[in-house]
This record gives sequence, structure tokens and C-alpha cells, in this order.
Amino acid sequence: MFESIGARVIVCEKFGTLTCLHTHTLAIEYTRLVVAAREGYNDTVPLRFDLFTLFPDICAAYLGESILKRAQESGLVSVRIHNLRDYAADKHHITDDLPYGGGGGMVMKPEPIFAAVESVLTADDRPPTAVEGQLSAVPIILLTPQGRPFTQAIAHELAQHDRLALICGRYEGFDERVRLRLATDEISIGDYVITGGELAALVVVDAVTRLRPGALGDPSGALDDSHASGLLEYPHYTRPPEFRGWAVPDVLLSGDHARIARWRREESLRRTFHRRPDLLLKLELSEEDRLFLAEVAEEAAENLRSQISNS
Ligand code: ADE
Repeated sequence: MFESIGARVIVCEKFGTLTCLHTHTLAIEYTRLVVAAREGYNDTVPLRFDLFTLFPDICAAYLGESILKRAQESGLVSVRIHNLRDYAADKHHITDDLPYGGGGGMVMKPEPIFAAVESVLTADDRPPTAVEGQLSAVPIILLTPQGRPFTQAIAHELAQHDRLALICGRYEGFDERVRLRLATDEISIGDYVITGGELAALVVVDAVTRLRPGALGDPSGALDDSHASGLLEYPHYTRPPEFRGWAVPDVLLSGDHARIARWRREESLRRTFHRRPDLLLKLELSEEDRLFLAEVAEEAAENLRSQISNS
């Protein structure tokens, strides 16, 4: 699919010819295209997020900084924030009401949410995948503590889409008809309750954006992230080589890339064994990994035995 024709030009069947002035930029662009093709992402249009919320400023603040800001500026993603209050038809723009059957708290009314999502997803500037009258072509995701637990695998799944709608709840939650008749998915960011869905939606936007090829300055960054390979990430060190008498592991200063790679793999395995052994059960491990983990397990058993005998 890709053909390199000299240091500064790449020909790619799908994306046409790219010319870059700077070789480093070219390398990043090349990696971005390779990753996009491999992962099946549509790299030709920005992934569009539509966030529906009662608190647009909370979302705007986070989206206006760092990687998410740059990803929007460089056209990898676009994020539109819609204030649900603007879609409430009454003169006071009321978006919540008392629960039928009594009980404490308020419930988010269905009308403003349906009106907002329907109007935004059928607007003219939709991407070609959202077919007329078929809102379900775009995943409509409710952020709620009752949703499926968000994982890196779900982030990958969502990154395949051209467009995602995220609806942030507040108060006691949504009128059930939003759940039953509008949403196509529900996501929770963990087994705890936070004040509203905004933080959860931002977590999803962030994790999905990081996966868009080119979002991270260093294209290999997302590959090393914890959970990307199914393992937790290895420890990082930077200068100085010694701080308060605590030295950086010698291997990292050795310049021997093969040894460094093996050390990182082992530290990832060790950390995952100690902190998230459940993750190891889901992985296909090499014989070398298994032997190393057997040593780590033996060390752990030995430590436990000595703690018990000293107690
Ligand atoms: N809203 C409140 N708590 C939440 C959670 N844990 N995940 C997603 N949305 C939420």
C-alpha cells in the first residue's frame, strides 16, 4: 500500500502523494498513515464528537489544553459541545423534573435531550456515514454508572467510528425513555458515582483521541501506554541519573537497546503480576515471558513465606 520514493516523498494508494519538507515530520506522517490503515481508522475525516451537557464550560476547559487541543487544531478530531438547556422549549429552559412515584432528587427530562440529539445528528454538516433518518448510524452514548465499564478495548472500538454522540447526565439520571429509545450504548468509567457525566465523557474523548494516529507527538506513544498491550507500562526515569542517592537502573544508561527492551518487558510483566494479575490471564505470553513470570511468582511466594514466619 505504501511506497517510499526517496527521503521526502511517500506514495500511498489510498491517500495520494504526500510531500513533507522535514524528514522527521515525514516519518511521523508515514507512521500515522500506516497505523490508520492497520487499525482500520478512517483517516481522511476528523473523528467528530458531539457532547450534550448542561455544563458546557466544564468540557470546554479540558478540551482547550494539551493533546486534545492540538488534535483539534490539526484536524484529527473535532469536538462540538451542545448545551441541553438551549433545546428546552419552555421559557425557563427547564431540563429536569420530579420523579414520578416520588422519592428524592430530580430526573433529566426527555424532551430537551431528544430535541438536541435529533437536531444535531440530522444537521447538514454531518459526515457521510450518518444516513438520513438513521440516527443509529452514529453511536449515541449515555455516560452513567450503570453502563458497561470503559476499557482500552472499548476505546479502540469507538475510535473506528467517524462520529460519536456523548450525553452527560446530572441529578438522579435520565428519564428511562432516553435510555430505551435514543441511546445505543451506555458507558461507565468505574464503579463509583460522580456528580455528572461530563468528566466521564471527557475520559472517553481523551482515551479515543489518543488512539487516532498522529494525536501524540511521538507516534509510538500510544503503543507503550499501560493497557495498550494488555500489560501495565514499565517504569520511566529521566535525568538526573542520581537523585538523593537513588540511581536510575544501569540498564537504561547502557545504550544497549535489546537489553533495554527486555528490561522494559520484564518490568511490565512484574508490575502487572503484582498489581493486576487478572490482566495476565487474558494474554498470550511467550515462553520467555512465562519463565520470567514463574520467577516473579517464586519471589513473591518467598517474600510471603518470610513475612509469615517473622510475624
Ligand atoms: N455519572 C456519574 N457517575 C458516573 C460513572 N461512574 N461513569 C459514567 N458516568 C457517570
